[in-house]
Amino acid sequence: MSKKTITDLKELKGKVVFVRVDFNVPLKNGVINDDNRIVAALPTINYLREKGARVVLFSHLGKVDHKDPVKCAENKAKNDMKFVAPRLSQLLGEEVVYVPETRGEVLSQAVKSLKDGQVLLMQNTRYEKGESKNDLDLASYWASLADVFVMDAFGSAHRAHSSTYGVPEILNSQGKETALGFLMQKEVEGLNRCVNITDADRPFVAILGGAKVSDKILVVEKLIEKADKVLIGGAITCTFLKALGKPVGNSRYEADQLDFALRCVELAKAKNKLVLPIDHIVADDFAMPLDVRVTTGVEISDGFERLDIGPRTRLYYNDILQNAKTVFWNGPMGVFENPLFAEGTKAICETLTKLTREKGVFTVIGGGDSASAASQMGYKEGFSHVSTGGGASLELIQNEGHLPGIDVIADK
Ligand code: 3PG
Repeated sequence: MSKKTITDLKELKGKVVFVRVDFNVPLKNGVINDDNRIVAALPTINYLREKGARVVLFSHLGKVDHKDPVKCAENKAKNDMKFVAPRLSQLLGEEVVYVPETRGEVLSQAVKSLKDGQVLLMQNTRYEKGESKNDLDLASYWASLADVFVMDAFGSAHRAHSSTYGVPEILNSQGKETALGFLMQKEVEGLNRCVNITDADRPFVAILGGAKVSDKILVVEKLIEKADKVLIGGAITCTFLKALGKPVGNSRYEADQLDFALRCVELAKAKNKLVLPIDHIVADDFAMPLDVRVTTGVEISDGFERLDIGPRTRLYYNDILQNAKTVFWNGPMGVFENPLFAEGTKAICETLTKLTREKGVFTVIGGGDSASAASQMGYKEGFSHVSTGGGASLELIQNEGHLPGIDVIADK
C-alpha cells in the first residue's frame, strides 16, 4: 500500500482525529435496517480509542435537496444522524457524544471538550449545502478542528466532497497527517486484486447484473478489457438482447443504450468474452405475477417480462465459473426480493462461495444490491471480499484503483 494507513500514524494520544465514515445506512421511519456499514467502521474507531485519540466521526446520510426548501426540510427530518447515534453507542459499548450540528460554537466546544478515547458523532454532513460541492469554507472549518484525518468511508471515496476530499487536502497542506483506516485498507486491497490481474489470477470472470446499463457503462468496457469472460444477468440483459435484434416482450430496456450495448458486443467478439443468458424466467406481471414461465431460448414473448436468469443459464454460468481463479460480481441476476425470481442470484452465491471454500478462488462482490442479496440469503461470509460501496467499487475498477478519497491521502 503506497498510501499512509492508520497504523503509520504517529502519536495519537490527545489528538483530535476526524474520521470520515460512511454511515449512510438504510433507514425506514428512523429505524436502521442494516447496520453493516457501522459495524465495518468499528475496527478503526476502536483502534483510535485504544490509542487515546479524541475521535470525531462525520458522515453523510441519504440525500438532501437544498434547492427546494420543503424537500430540504423533509430530507433533513428523514436523514437525521440522531437515528444512528444510539446504535453506534450500543456497538461501541459506550455512549458517544452526539452533536446535532455540522458547524458552529456547539460543535467546536464539544470537540474541544472531548476526553482522550472519547467518540463524538456530528450531524449528517449533507445538512451543509456546500458539502457536495467541496466548499472550501466548510472544509476549512472542519479542518480547523482536526489534528489528523482518517478516511474510512469507502462507499463515499468516489465523491470529492468537503468531508472526503477538502478536509484531507487542507490538512496535507498544513503538514498534518492523513491516512486510510482499516476498512479502506481492506477494500483497496480486495478490489485492487481485480484491477491488477496477474496471469496467476486468471481466468478472471466478471458477472454483471442489476437494472441499468447506464450506471455501468465505463465499468462494462473496462471489464471487457480486463476479464476473460463477462457474464451478463439482471435487467441489463434485455438492453443487450434488444441491441442484437432479439424480442424482449414487455421487458424494460434502455433505448438510449442500444448503441453502447452493440459496441460492447463488438469489443468482446474477437475473444468471445461477453456471455448472455440462454434462457430466462419470465412473468406476465412483475408486481403480481400470475403466469410465471421458463423460456425455451433467449427470445421473450409479448406479454411477458424477464425477471431472472433461467435454469439452463444457471448451469451454463456455473460451468464457466468452474475454471475461474478470480471473480468480480456486481448486480443481482433477477428480482431476488421475490422468491420466484431469486434462484439465479442464489445460484451465483452458491457457486462462488463453494469455489472460494473448496478451490480458494478469490471472489469479490462489488457492493450494492448483490451485497444485500448475498447477505439476506446467508452467503456473505463465504466470499473473499464483500465491498461496502457499490458506486465506489465500480469506479475504483474503472479508474484502475484511483478514487478522489484515496488519492488525496498522503503517501507513505
Ligand atoms: C452509497 O450508499 O453508495 C454511498 O454512501 C454513497 O452515497 P451517495 O451516492 O449518496 O453519494
